[in-house]
Amino acid sequence: MKHLISLKDWSPEAIFDVLDLAVKVKAAPEQYADVLKQKTLLMIFEKPSLRTRISFEAGMTQLGGHAIYYDMSTSPMGGGKETIEDSIKVISRMCDLVMARLFRHEDILEMAQYATIPVINALTDNSHPCQILADLLTVQEKKGSLKGLTLAYLGDGFNNVTHSLMYGCSKVGMNIRIGSPEAHMPAVEVTEQCVEFAQEAGSGLLITDDPAEAVQGADVVYTDSWMSYHIPKEEEASRIKVFTPYQVSDVLMEEAATDAIFMNCLPALRGAEQSAGVIDGPQSVVFDEAENRLHAQKAVLLKLSGVA
Ligand code: CP
Ligand code: NVA
Repeated sequence: MKHLISLKDWSPEAIFDVLDLAVKVKAAPEQYADVLKQKTLLMIFEKPSLRTRISFEAGMTQLGGHAIYYDMSTSPMGGGKETIEDSIKVISRMCDLVMARLFRHEDILEMAQYATIPVINALTDNSHPCQILADLLTVQEKKGSLKGLTLAYLGDGFNNVTHSLMYGCSKVGMNIRIGSPEAHMPAVEVTEQCVEFAQEAGSGLLITDDPAEAVQGADVVYTDSWMSYHIPKEEEASRIKVFTPYQVSDVLMEEAATDAIFMNCLPALRGAEQSAGVIDGPQSVVFDEAENRLHAQKAVLLKLSGVA
């Protein structure tokens, strides 16, 4: 567990371990108030953020350490002035941990290759593992345990959050169903790997273009933006058209289990990937989910620092 690049690389035990620690950190934050004293986290951002930036920065403060926000657009790194390899070698001499939100997944792999400190993937076009650890913590809180539950994801299947959800759910023994249009299905490689992880964990994976089939009886209904940060604005109209049948509407939500919860990693657009009635309704847990970014990531920082 040297880095957190993708949940693909984490064993089920490592995932459960960090969730257990997150529960403890959330219940008694004062016990962890000095554990990262004098430690520095560098936070590299190539894309915008509300939750990720604030939860990591507040998390480091709460653990007694410090976080530096570093904007890629004002950096020599990656812009032809300085290589990722040289940059991360320098960063490793000055900081204790580094997290990065980048476009290209290859770039975070390169950082991890040359870093001598733990590297955390804070979202790439390909994956968003920090989000899914917070999501699993949220489901566990609301449902008591994870194994055997069914999570249905609706919308953009070829998506960072979707891919990481598939890894996370299949590793912890949750059944996962993806309801996406044919042209936006998850990456084949991710699906193939998750079929194996699900088999090992005794759970199932279903990929369908039928939204009702995906949601039928599900314990958790999850959606994400149709316009991820890296999607060009000119694709918006065509994407609205293709994804609209996959909107988590009030009617579609009724197909899920009566006690189903609704999740969205946020940011969310009412009237797009879900109706206002669903995200603002009694089944929605989106703000608990957002808060859990803080607690889950504090646990990740502690684990990767080797202090818990
Ligand atoms: N869910 C999430 O990662 O949000 P931000 O883009 O605001 O960080
Ligand atoms: N899929 C979204 C997640 C935002 C947190 C994006 O990449 O923009």
